[in-house]
Amino acid sequence: MSKVTSIEFANLMRETISEGTVLLKNDDALPLKQDDVVSIFGRCQINFYKSGTGSGGSVNVEYTTNLLDSLEASEFAKINEKLADIYRNWVKENPYDNAGGGWAMEPDSQKEMILSDEIIEDARSVSNKAIIVIGRTAGEDKDNRLEAGSLKLTDDELQMMEKVSKYFEKTIVILNTANIIDMSWLYTLENPPAAVMYAWQGGMEGGNGIADVLCGKMSPSGKLTDTIALSFEDYPSTRLYGRKDFCVYEEDIYVGYRYFETFCPEKVAFEFGYGLTYSKFHISFEPVKIIYEQNLSDSKKNNIQFLVTGFVKNTGDFPCKEVVQIYMQPPQGKLGKPSKVLCGFYKTPVLNSDETCMFEIKFDQTRLASYDDTGITGCKSAFVLEEGDYVFFGGNSVRNVNRLDVECRNEIKDSFHVEKCTVVEQLEEALAPSSSFNVLKPLEQKEDGTYEQCFVPAHKRSYELETRIKSNIPKLIPRTGNININLHDVTFTEQDGKPSLDDFIGQLSIEELACLTRGEGMCNPRVTHGTASAFGGLSDNLCSMGIPAGCTSDGPSGIRMDSGEKATQVPIGTMLACTWNPEIVEKLFTFEGKEINGYNIDVLLGPGMNIHRNPINGRNFEYFSEDPLLTGIMAGSVSKGLANEGVFATLKHFCCNNQETGRLVSDSVVSERALREIYLKGFEIAIKEFGAKSVMTSYNKINGFWGASNYDLTTTILRKQWHFDGMVMSDWWSSINDVMTGGDACLKNMENMVRAQNDVYMCVPNNGAFFNVNKDTVAESVENGKLYVSELQRAARNICKFLMSTKAFERNQEYSEPVFDILPFDEYSNEYKVKEFSDKSCMKVAAGKECFFKIEEDGEFRLVARIMSTMPISAQSVTNIFINETKVGTVQTNGTQGAWATIVVSRIILKQGIYRISAEDVKPGIVIDFIEVRE
Ligand code: BGC
Repeated sequence: MSKVTSIEFANLMRETISEGTVLLKNDDALPLKQDDVVSIFGRCQINFYKSGTGSGGSVNVEYTTNLLDSLEASEFAKINEKLADIYRNWVKENPYDNAGGGWAMEPDSQKEMILSDEIIEDARSVSNKAIIVIGRTAGEDKDNRLEAGSLKLTDDELQMMEKVSKYFEKTIVILNTANIIDMSWLYTLENPPAAVMYAWQGGMEGGNGIADVLCGKMSPSGKLTDTIALSFEDYPSTRLYGRKDFCVYEEDIYVGYRYFETFCPEKVAFEFGYGLTYSKFHISFEPVKIIYEQNLSDSKKNNIQFLVTGFVKNTGDFPCKEVVQIYMQPPQGKLGKPSKVLCGFYKTPVLNSDETCMFEIKFDQTRLASYDDTGITGCKSAFVLEEGDYVFFGGNSVRNVNRLDVECRNEIKDSFHVEKCTVVEQLEEALAPSSSFNVLKPLEQKEDGTYEQCFVPAHKRSYELETRIKSNIPKLIPRTGNININLHDVTFTEQDGKPSLDDFIGQLSIEELACLTRGEGMCNPRVTHGTASAFGGLSDNLCSMGIPAGCTSDGPSGIRMDSGEKATQVPIGTMLACTWNPEIVEKLFTFEGKEINGYNIDVLLGPGMNIHRNPINGRNFEYFSEDPLLTGIMAGSVSKGLANEGVFATLKHFCCNNQETGRLVSDSVVSERALREIYLKGFEIAIKEFGAKSVMTSYNKINGFWGASNYDLTTTILRKQWHFDGMVMSDWWSSINDVMTGGDACLKNMENMVRAQNDVYMCVPNNGAFFNVNKDTVAESVENGKLYVSELQRAARNICKFLMSTKAFERNQEYSEPVFDILPFDEYSNEYKVKEFSDKSCMKVAAGKECFFKIEEDGEFRLVARIMSTMPISAQSVTNIFINETKVGTVQTNGTQGAWATIVVSRIILKQGIYRISAEDVKPGIVIDFIEVRE
């Protein structure tokens, strides 16, 4: 029995897995039947991946499940045990290779067992079906590659497929992958497999969930959230992918199915939205109802709603769910548009054979609108409906759809007609690129309905950022000095005599304001051990004024605590999205929220929600889809689920973190239209429609400005245009450049971050916020007039307001540094008396090593370590330090690029006697020069 994960949570994960599993092909091989006997091939039946790697995969789980064990345990399946033993022994002799476990070191795939004909023949003689498991991983700082062993199969894997399918008529391929992989083998194998399914990585219940599906306890009902092209070279973003200096998004808004359906549908192997179940469905549609909603106070805000209703009938004989998908085809107009755009969807409940359900899908005109960044329609910087016919399609994939009738003012038509270009939302130009480049646009329509491609210059920024920033400096909150207002006294409703948040902020000194903008971490001792950061009340004074220290933790698929505490790991983002079921995702994250609460964590660093621009991206597993609507709804559902338990989701990485290669330095060069329609859209939906309150900016630059110092991103768009009123944090140790002119990175110039309204810098070393150990120039900039106090107050206000809505505000937060009181060994053991002792001022303790020291006199000491890491700046390494059996500290560092730092590990009380000190790596990479016991 798990102590951490309840049966209900585990069962919900299993259900989610069945809903997110995508069945691509099934020639009567699945579900397994009572009398089937199965031979399972491929090492990943045992080394079944639970997630990708990096911060998004590092959950310490209490248990995990693999396919072999789960199938064995299932009452439905009979397994070829002899083959299972062969694999078990082989895996024992050829253990999983994680390349030492260091940051971003784990290989994308593992060596496979070479199969002799004899083994397979033997297997065939005792079983009638074969399962082949192919596993792949990817992760943070580690993109996949378009090569064998990564997105392509290795020769050994191909041989395994060839040989197994020679002997077995019914071979089932299970893809236990972080990402979609190249599927060309499906078309080149002499005997292609009878069934293929994406099992993704289902977290700790992954094995059980997939076993449920294989055995027919549940039907798969997942649908692809990405287009699988015949050749991965065909994705328009592949050409320039992975450049470290800058990456031009030349395909513009034509990402995924928007590209393939418009220009080259013949290049698609499996289309967006596709996925089989064990049953069959008939979907019927009523005409789409157009509902005009008049806004009596402002006719410019008149709204149009679209209501799609119909029926789904299970015409097969297996109980399961189906997804209804609605697409629209806008007129090409002057802007040029994709041939299909997803504008709504609905997942049915489980329908039994012959059972029917009604559905209702409602969306408004914003789902149909395109952004005019050039002014070509006459409505510059606005979301518009260009004149022409908007055609609707309904079905169960972007391809398998029928054209829908439209009922408008009691008349049935074949489309929704817009008379003249209409502004849906007037904005102002923001985040536009300043460099010249060309972007893709459809040209002539060809006979087959697709379009010729052409490239046109992207619109360049036509406003002065400096003027914009300077003309929007906030008003100063009168400065009063400390007048004894505690944050707990503050009220948001005007009440006689009660202080407002502004009154509170007015008390803070420049140093206090600056301190608030610095988060500390990782593994900060003020908050739950082993988590990502603490922020807010990080000095004694700020604490005494009632500002709590908030706690953040990775995310997204469970709580990461490098101290070794256990937590639940849910399925990866892609799998969640493939459910097309926002309700189940919300429910799952309500459970997750409860667990997070139990650990006194306030903010989860997730969901990751960057667009799947290219299958190579190592962090696609954390993200949802190539489509922004689906992405926004899924991220919103995660946020809503956590909010049900008072926990905050952090939408990350804002925005265009679409490659891991060069992620800290690369400039994503994107048109404003593509930003608005694709890369920002999901964030906009999660914020406006689901009320998300915390955002993490991305490591990369977006049109010349790093995410953490990008004024248009975090002020003009996020706050002014979307009315976001939460808190923004940077990614960990991220770069900053000049908020007005861009240019090179300078970490110290954090005033640029404050000015952009990226409220908190994550992170400075522990105990470093108050002492400003990074020597940032925020306070100095106020003195020399480069930054206004009011800008600092604005950041402080955002942070305090956010903290007031967290559970941290309710917690008793008397912070006192933990002191470990440890008994010497010689009180209960003689064996240590024979050891050699180190000088306690210079103990050489490396991971996995131990040494002994003697304390001559009882006393209180400090444990200090000199550490460094030669790894890149964003690489995270963690080591736990033990004295005797007691864990006295978790030492964490990012890459220091060779520079040494001396850090305090903890305070200890020791008595006269003998002690052992040892270190144990959680994530290798820290080099410890020495550890010292200081008086
Ligand atoms: C990642 C973030 C993560 C943070 C803290 C960064 O390297 O990009 O997604 O939340 O580290 O672990």
